[in-house]
Amino acid sequence: MSAENRRAATAVVLLAAGKGTRMRSKQAKVLHQIAGQPMLHFAMRAAMTLEPERMAVVVGHGGEEVAASARTLHPGVDICVQEQQLGTGHAVRMAETALDGFDGQLIVLFGDTPFLSAETMAKLVTEPQAITVLGFETEHPGRYGRLVMEGDRALRITEAKDATAEELAITACNSGVMAGPAQAMFRLLAQLSPKNAQGEYYLTDLPHLAREEGIETRAVFCDIAETLGINDRQDLATAEAAFQARARANAMAAGATLSDPESVHFAWDTALGQDVEIEPNVVFGPGVEIADEVTIRAFCHITETRIAPGVSVGPFARLRGGAVIGEGAYIGNFVEMKKVDFGPGAKAAHLTYVGDATVGAGANLGAGTITCNYDGVSKHRTKIGERAFIGTNTALVAPVTVGDDAYTATGSVITQDVPPGDLAIARGRQENKTGLGRKLRERLAAQKAGKE
Ligand code: UD1
Ligand code: CA
Repeated sequence: MSAENRRAATAVVLLAAGKGTRMRSKQAKVLHQIAGQPMLHFAMRAAMTLEPERMAVVVGHGGEEVAASARTLHPGVDICVQEQQLGTGHAVRMAETALDGFDGQLIVLFGDTPFLSAETMAKLVTEPQAITVLGFETEHPGRYGRLVMEGDRALRITEAKDATAEELAITACNSGVMAGPAQAMFRLLAQLSPKNAQGEYYLTDLPHLAREEGIETRAVFCDIAETLGINDRQDLATAEAAFQARARANAMAAGATLSDPESVHFAWDTALGQDVEIEPNVVFGPGVEIADEVTIRAFCHITETRIAPGVSVGPFARLRGGAVIGEGAYIGNFVEMKKVDFGPGAKAAHLTYVGDATVGAGANLGAGTITCNYDGVSKHRTKIGERAFIGTNTALVAPVTVGDDAYTATGSVITQDVPPGDLAIARGRQENKTGLGRKLRERLAAQKAGKE
């Protein structure tokens, strides 16, 4: 029988009501992003690895926005409001009504602790009848609550502000994560008192109360990197750096070449194929999938884009808003693409903006091709056929269609559809005035001399 089969049903309570004063932000702390994702979603995704029956998020400051953000990831989430931030123990109690009747295992997570791994989450729930505290070891325990241990039993947790000198010397710390039988936990939470240095209802008093009732209390440990908590912008930067370091290492381990890893920034979900080459100073936003043998040259910014095998992008390209780049396509310098389906083998080698468009296989967009997709009110689509050749400096005034194998002449402003195979010339016709250039110069020179 696997541990999986024995596992009790789980419910997760995520605490996110704290003001996050030290962020000095108008935005709730848990909505600040790491690698393009709110830290709240990192914590929720960690929780979701347990496939919980119920999930509740306790909100306070900035509650509406936090609730909306939580729902985008998990529409069924319960939102519980903690009007006054009276402590972590009080915060958990706010979820009691939402979890009414739930008789399984409760897991308490913090919304500002984004990096818990699935392995650690699984370790927390192996003994459903015990109260399990997630701890970590550090040489610099600072402000963390200390775990007073006896073997692998957690006798109690003492907050740094309430600790004796002897307790302060303990290097086993409380991550804040706790699991246990839901009904017993809520019963014990009702017994908390705020008699401590901060005058708060501490969740951390639970192990001590549990032992008095004869409930087993144990600790499992994880690496400090997983329990990194974010309190200020410095912590946020540390978390970002930690994420990036892991993402770079993972990318290289999976077969990508990063010539200057430190200068490549990934999003939380960037997916790279094999033999991808990434030059220095490349930034990925969320929603990027890159297939095998793609080259991303220096200084590209790519977000919400899918790139097929064998494509070359950049230097200095910006792809965004749901761009799909077909196999073997070529995107050169100073090219921006937004919401574009760019066909296999199509080329846009220089200085081009393509937005809200479909570009057929093998089409060639000359330098300075611009889709005029926005009229100040609405966006309109441009369709460019297969093998179409868009002459240099063509403005395509959308909505407009250029057929397969059609040409547009250099400098054209295309306002009408171009049938397949046709050549569209839409520019002023050139006229040469015999000798007029020389005369003009003489006149201008004479004018200048007259002034002096
Ligand atoms: C807490 C732990 C401490 C642990 C540390 C790990 C307690 C009493 N202390 O301390 O042992 O070492 O985390 O980072 O639990 N929150 C609410 N409502 C409240 C208070 C807090 O929702 O009334 C939320 C906060 O938004 C935050 C989390 O709970 O996500 C932790 O609160 P915080 O005040 O940061 O606790 P610490 O002092 O860091
Ligand atoms: Ca904290």
